[in-house]
Amino acid sequence: MVTEATDDSARGAVRPRAEQLTFLRTGRVAHLATVSGENTPHLVPVCYEAVGADGALTTLYIALDEKRKRVAPGELRRVRNIAGNPAVSLLVDRYDDGDWDRLAFLRVDGRAMILEPHDPEHGVAVAALRAKYPQYRAMALGERPVIRITPTAVRSWGALADESEGAVPRAIPFATLVRARRSVRRFRPDPVPRAIVEELIAAAGWAPSPHGRQPWRFAVITRPAAREALADAMGATWTAQLALDGQDRATVAARLAGSRQRLLTTPTLIIPCLYTVDLDRYPDADRQVAEETMAVQSLGAAIQNLLLAAAARGLDTGWMCAPLFCPEIVRDALDLVPGLVPHALIQLGWAAQDPRRRERLPPEALIVKYD
Ligand SMILES: Cc1cc2nc3c(=O)[nH]c(=O)nc-3n(C[C@H](O)[C@H](O)[C@H](O)COP(=O)(O)O)c2cc1C
Repeated sequence: MVTEATDDSARGAVRPRAEQLTFLRTGRVAHLATVSGENTPHLVPVCYEAVGADGALTTLYIALDEKRKRVAPGELRRVRNIAGNPAVSLLVDRYDDGDWDRLAFLRVDGRAMILEPHDPEHGVAVAALRAKYPQYRAMALGERPVIRITPTAVRSWGALADESEGAVPRAIPFATLVRARRSVRRFRPDPVPRAIVEELIAAAGWAPSPHGRQPWRFAVITRPAAREALADAMGATWTAQLALDGQDRATVAARLAGSRQRLLTTPTLIIPCLYTVDLDRYPDADRQVAEETMAVQSLGAAIQNLLLAAAARGLDTGWMCAPLFCPEIVRDALDLVPGLVPHALIQLGWAAQDPRRRERLPPEALIVKYD
């Protein structure tokens, strides 16, 4: 039996049932149907993201990405068809040869338009697509049009809700994940759920560490009052240090305002702290220094685990070194116990805009000897 969603299109949105929305949101590939001026149907597989709030489905975005294409984005048949006739359908389906009880499909009918890069909504569309597909973070979507669909109806059939799905996290190829991690400095205000933050810190906990002692802990800051206390405390030190560098007052003020803004507007701040209390103690200075260096190396490994786990979740991060220059001040501002030494500040959230990526040295330049 085919089920229809409540059509709220007069008010600009359709209201799919919860399992319809989940099926649509968790689907990875769909088929987009457009029609030419001569009424010839055209069908292509697409990656897509469904956007809405409070149970409504307001928009679908489809990137015209860099996957092998023979013509420029504007020349694609689907784009020319939409220009002539905005009526489109998008089909998401599940087929299982071993279990026909799991078969299901969902179709969204709607009206499509092309969002050009200068359109204010283009950035929102690209951010939404990149949150769903980490592969898109390595592609220059910012310069390419996006298809935007306003749904007018949702119809579905079969066993949409499938308990076995979702239980197993979707695997992202490692090469994709490692490139998806990037340093972001400006974030959207959307809060990050606590369960996700805990999941990322659990991933940090799986880092290698000297004697397996895990010489690090994490302070998580979300409340505005706590971030302000931190920004105020670090601001005084920054001002003094930048002045020491001989920078003029206007430059100091501008840099300070930028850093302060980063602290106040990022949804979640994580302060990784070195915690050497459980480490071995040596009578000689050399081994003691090596022990502490190992702890710092391990802290870096734990942070990288956290950053990669965030990227796997479609989240972005930014690494700020500021606490390293005033650990006692940060510890006091956050009321942390004396054994903790704040070493960094990790911004966590969803990127407000794509950062510029730095080129990487090729392996030949990184490997100094391969004997
Ligand atoms: C130890 C460490 C400290 C860093 N400190 C800062 C910082 O204070 N501010 C900042 O904007 N980025 C900081 N970064 C981020 C680097 O600038 C960034 O990783 C680098 O430019 C490469 O860009 P990518 O992370 O996007 O690949 C830091 C990175 C590391 C590993």
